Amino acid sequence: MQAVGRMMKVFVTRRIPQEGMKILSSSGVTEVCQWDSDEPVPRAELLTGVHGAHGLLCLLSDKIDAEVLDTAGPNLKVISTLSVGFDHMALDEIKKRGIRVGYTPDVLTDATAELTLALLLATARRIPEGVEEVKNGGWSSWKPLWLCGYGLSGSTVGIIGLGRIGLAIARRLLPFGVKRLLYSGRTVKSNAAEVNGEFVSLDALVSESDFIVVSCSLTPETQGLCDKTFFNKMKNTAIFVNISRGAVVNQEDLYEALKSGQIAAAGLDVTTPEPLPTNHPLLTLKNCVVIPHLGSATYSTRGEMSALAARNLLGGLQGTDMPSELTA
Ligand code: NDP
Ligand code: DGY
Repeated sequence: MQAVGRMMKVFVTRRIPQEGMKILSSSGVTEVCQWDSDEPVPRAELLTGVHGAHGLLCLLSDKIDAEVLDTAGPNLKVISTLSVGFDHMALDEIKKRGIRVGYTPDVLTDATAELTLALLLATARRIPEGVEEVKNGGWSSWKPLWLCGYGLSGSTVGIIGLGRIGLAIARRLLPFGVKRLLYSGRTVKSNAAEVNGEFVSLDALVSESDFIVVSCSLTPETQGLCDKTFFNKMKNTAIFVNISRGAVVNQEDLYEALKSGQIAAAGLDVTTPEPLPTNHPLLTLKNCVVIPHLGSATYSTRGEMSALAARNLLGGLQGTDMPSELTA
């Protein structure tokens, strides 16, 4: 671990873009300890690092539970996560202790929406399969029936969770000539009109969509939402895309649906666990495109996330406004 600066102790659980580290080190109020590695902090090092800390800057791969909070002790004023998702944190335990929480909404919305479109198109138009055929000599000629997929033009797309990212995905889909844009969630969205979004029941969305995109948050209600019953209602020609969290999907049921031809294909940016073991059954399927949680992975977005996470941390340490405080 590296120690820099002094005063209030802050533990940073990973090597993060310099933007955030510079903000912390130039603040003059923090003594920064860091797990200075690209790989996740081992649990024992997390517990050692957080001990006595006033601030914790963590990642979505760190489980922040009662044990971490108890080990940190009463100094801990603020937890700032380098993510918009906060399902890795025990919010009830955190709130009970009066600890403030920062997260990184908005700055990653465009990058994640872009990646979703890339994944959807790659899956529907079978791009990874095509690349593989070029490399392995399977490309013998232009063939009328070979490697055909599904297009967005004239299609019905269903978005589960029309939040910041869901709306940004919808905006990008419309120019492809999507005919109907359905969405489901807990509440009707006033800004859905901008994308001609129709609020429908989950059942209607699942059975009527040619493409389903999952962009909701992971909560007890959404955990395992996409299961056998869900996939059985989908069209045989439909494409399923998940950029939310792996746990929204029952992966055994998804495997069966893909293998049996119940649904056409799936594109997953998120899985359970992460990383997905290389011998996982889903990776044996040609109609399943799995990428390693790349939604926000552009240089500039990760830099902005890092800076925002650092500013959130400083706000919490100093008892001032945090640019993005999680208040719900
Ligand atoms: P928002 O809070 O803006 O959106 C979350 C949406 O989830 C809301 O529209 C909410 O709808 C919806 N939702 C909540 N519960 C349900 C439910 N039971 N059924 C259907 N929808 C529901 O968050 P963001 O758009 O900024 O981010 C969404 C999620 O995307 C994050 O929580 C994270 O897990 C994931 N993410 C993944 C990334 C990646 O790299 N793959 C990158 C960034 C985020 P309502 O308002 O009606 O409750
Ligand atoms: C998040 O922020 O929740 C994403 O999953 C990673 O950017």
